[in-house]
Amino acid sequence: MSEAFGVAILAAGQGTRLKSKRAKVLHAAGGRTLIEQVVRTVQALGGEEIFVVVGHQAEAVRKALAPLSAASSGKGLRGHGLRFIHQKEQKGTGHALLCGRQEIEASVPLLLVVCGDTPLIRAETLREFLGFHRQSGAAATVLTVDMPDPAGYGRIVRLADGNLAAIVEQKSATPEQLAIPEINTGIYCFETRPLFGALERVAADGITGEYYLTDVIALLREAGQKVAAYKMADASEVLGINNRVELAAADALLRDRKARALMLAGVTIVRPETVLIDPDVEVGPDTIIELGVSLLGKTCVGEGCRIGAFSVVADSEIAAGVTVKQSCMVSESKIGPGASIGPFARLRMGAEIGPNASIGNFVEVKKSRIGRGTKANHLTYLGDATIGEGVNIGAGTITCNYDGEKKHPTIIEDHVFIGSGTELVAPARVGKGAYVGAGSTITEEVPPDALAIARARQASKAGWAAARRKIKAEGKKKSE
Ligand code: UD1
Ligand code: CA
Repeated sequence: MSEAFGVAILAAGQGTRLKSKRAKVLHAAGGRTLIEQVVRTVQALGGEEIFVVVGHQAEAVRKALAPLSAASSGKGLRGHGLRFIHQKEQKGTGHALLCGRQEIEASVPLLLVVCGDTPLIRAETLREFLGFHRQSGAAATVLTVDMPDPAGYGRIVRLADGNLAAIVEQKSATPEQLAIPEINTGIYCFETRPLFGALERVAADGITGEYYLTDVIALLREAGQKVAAYKMADASEVLGINNRVELAAADALLRDRKARALMLAGVTIVRPETVLIDPDVEVGPDTIIELGVSLLGKTCVGEGCRIGAFSVVADSEIAAGVTVKQSCMVSESKIGPGASIGPFARLRMGAEIGPNASIGNFVEVKKSRIGRGTKANHLTYLGDATIGEGVNIGAGTITCNYDGEKKHPTIIEDHVFIGSGTELVAPARVGKGAYVGAGSTITEEVPPDALAIARARQASKAGWAAARRKIKAEGKKKSE
């Protein structure tokens, strides 16, 4: 059996190159914060312990990770299934690990170290890397890659025989070393005891004053320990995020991964490079996602839907066979099978649209239930309303749900016909099968099967317009 291992995630740094008030690992790429992305990946490895070294904005980082933590195992730092190590002052990656020495040494003989700013790394790669380290018998193994543009990374210096000699940071590298394409990914496997033995001996860097974790490689080798390097193939997986250009690149790569996974599962995505789909979003097969669509949060889209260009759907459930036309905004809402929404519609705050219902252009539905087959096709506001089946809501209907202090409900029962331009002053009720004449302002309950008309009676004054034109024309002649 393989020995137990733990994972340490270094996430205490500020990330000065992002020029942000927010700590680096709390910036998001691919719909998750960097730290959340990394924690989820290492959680999939099934290690014994996960240590997260926090420091800069430590509380905010802990808070961001709270939802990811398994049921609290109880006491102190051990809560939430993640063990937080506090690095009070950020004195470098080596110092970061030293801050957790006691806890780490006491609990795991083998430690996988990853950086909180390397969000693209995949669990499969880490698993292979761990396997390699175990076979190698080395005290330390470094995950390396040939980087097309190695600027900024630590370089892998090898001995004449090809074995690993040292890692040299960009700032300390000679011109010859800067030309080395092989870089340190910031991911390592260490046998815990020799690691801390060497870390104790790391001196502060002459240029930055930081204690570099990378220095342990040369120290271990000089002490006669075996050190190894495992070179992986895909450099994009270990892109380190230090500035906002790299953040955008990581976002694009993570979004691309999600879009590919959906396409391989049977979803059509028109111009996948233009869509934003968050990692937890589910989409059924034969659904078509058009140009520039955003599917965010916990959104779930059924089979055979069409999500129109530039629509944004967040935290919503869309059943099978739904059409969301162009440029809709849907948030925290549910859409029943076969319904049609938009173009330019807005559903929000718990809107529930029934099967085969139709919500048309410039219609806003807030916290309202719309029954099966009901239509509200043009320029309408439905707020705090419960609307039955087979109802027709005429163009320009408005529920006047707010009296300046409170919201009030509107109830429209099955098979009602609401004429265009109606205002329903809430609380309002229109009984089953009733009609409301166009242009009405409804302030009283409408009984079932009644016709309600509530508007000023029309007066047509015969010949008025012709007479006015005549007077105008005569006035003009006089002034000439
Ligand atoms: C580091 C490596 C470099 C490697 C690169 C890969 C060192 C000295 N250099 O450089 O060889 O090529 O990563 O991306 O390790 N952190 C702490 N506490 C600290 C300092 C940093 O927790 O005191 C954390 C940061 O939050 C970050 C990670 O360690 O998540 C890496 O730190 P960063 O400053 O980004 O190191 P790089 O300069 O990128
Ligand atoms: Ca970095």
